Amino acid sequence: MPYAHITGWGMAVPHKVLTNDDLSKMVETTDEWIRERTGIRERRIASDGETVSTLGAEAAFKALSVAGLLPSQVDLLICSTSSPEHIFPATACLIQDKIGAANAGAFDLLAACSGFIYALNMGAQSIRAGASKTVLVIGTETLSRFTNYQDRNTCVLFGDGAGAFVLQASEKPGGVMGSVLHSDGSGGDFLSVPASGSKLPASEATVRSGMHFIHMDGKEVFRFATRVMAQATLEAAEKSGWKTEDLTLIVPHQANIRIIEAAARGLKMPMEKFFVNLERYGNTSTASIPIAVVEAIQTGKLKPGDKVVFVGFGAGLTWGALAAEWSGPILPERTIRAEWFRPFARVRSLLRRLLRILEGILFGREP
Ligand code: ACO
Repeated sequence: MPYAHITGWGMAVPHKVLTNDDLSKMVETTDEWIRERTGIRERRIASDGETVSTLGAEAAFKALSVAGLLPSQVDLLICSTSSPEHIFPATACLIQDKIGAANAGAFDLLAACSGFIYALNMGAQSIRAGASKTVLVIGTETLSRFTNYQDRNTCVLFGDGAGAFVLQASEKPGGVMGSVLHSDGSGGDFLSVPASGSKLPASEATVRSGMHFIHMDGKEVFRFATRVMAQATLEAAEKSGWKTEDLTLIVPHQANIRIIEAAARGLKMPMEKFFVNLERYGNTSTASIPIAVVEAIQTGKLKPGDKVVFVGFGAGLTWGALAAEWSGPILPERTIRAEWFRPFARVRSLLRRLLRILEGILFGREP
């Protein structure tokens, strides 16, 4: 049975920075309150033209370059997002077109902030089952577009960004070793965007009442998160046959420093074992773990051979953890700049659209 190795990684964040001081001019809050209660100093916010698919494609190109792969070598593209560009088509298909992943199946997965763990698990299972050789897993989010910047309970928390991993099959032991996924829909009301779905489609009334924004019971989410983070980490480590002493690093969902500190206490592990970068990005939901992983690698905190656990929680309620032996690229000597293929992807997309118009003219639109 092949192993699923993580052989490529990349991240993309918008240029625009929103600081705590900026927020204090918009709602009744202070830099001090936000830093003390969450650990966040600033976050990135998507500008016009920046979307989940543009950020996701950027991160994907970088991940493919690290792995030394062409976009056409991807078999399966899984996009985890809670802020898709549309109900359909899937954002995964928009990214597939933008990067020119001509041979990939593509679908979206929604498990809120736990989404990247879920998506990584699905990608790894596809490789383990022999159904895919190369899987691109993307977590991308522009939750700022569902955030009410008059609600101080939520607007201080969220930021935008994207991260991507390449998973590749190899007979060499390593890569994704064990994972656990959990859910409890009875807590769905604690964190939701009540309108804009099929139950409450967008209308003047839903917009007037702010139902298309994120609604959150922060205290309940906090209680839930502190309860599950340590437990899920232990479960994933145990499934891989590891003890907490074996772990080099834990990369938790970057929601609130106090939640991460509670997980460290629960696991009786020092904070140095936890990678934290939420002070600069806030909570980027499903993108937070891959963004943190990219920065952990850049700062030398995650190296090939290390045993790492990714752990997250989010709306749903959902939570989960995934243990991996860090691999690095299978073909490190191969230099492919995947972003060089961006113009080809554009031309390919244009040609396919033109071909469809031509077919319509030549053969008519009737079946
Ligand atoms: N600035 C100043 N005061 C504030 C702010 C703010 N931004 N927000 C709330 N307050 C006030 C409250 O109104 C309250 O005032 P009161 O005592 O007069 O009523 C006081 O501060 C304390 O509020 P609490 O809610 O008790 O503050 P708490 O310490 O719990 O922190 C927070 C709130 C940061 C939201 C915390 O509960 C939290 O992080 N919860 C988890 C949220 C989370 O992680 N959500 C994302 C989940 S992942 C996903 O799927 C998207």
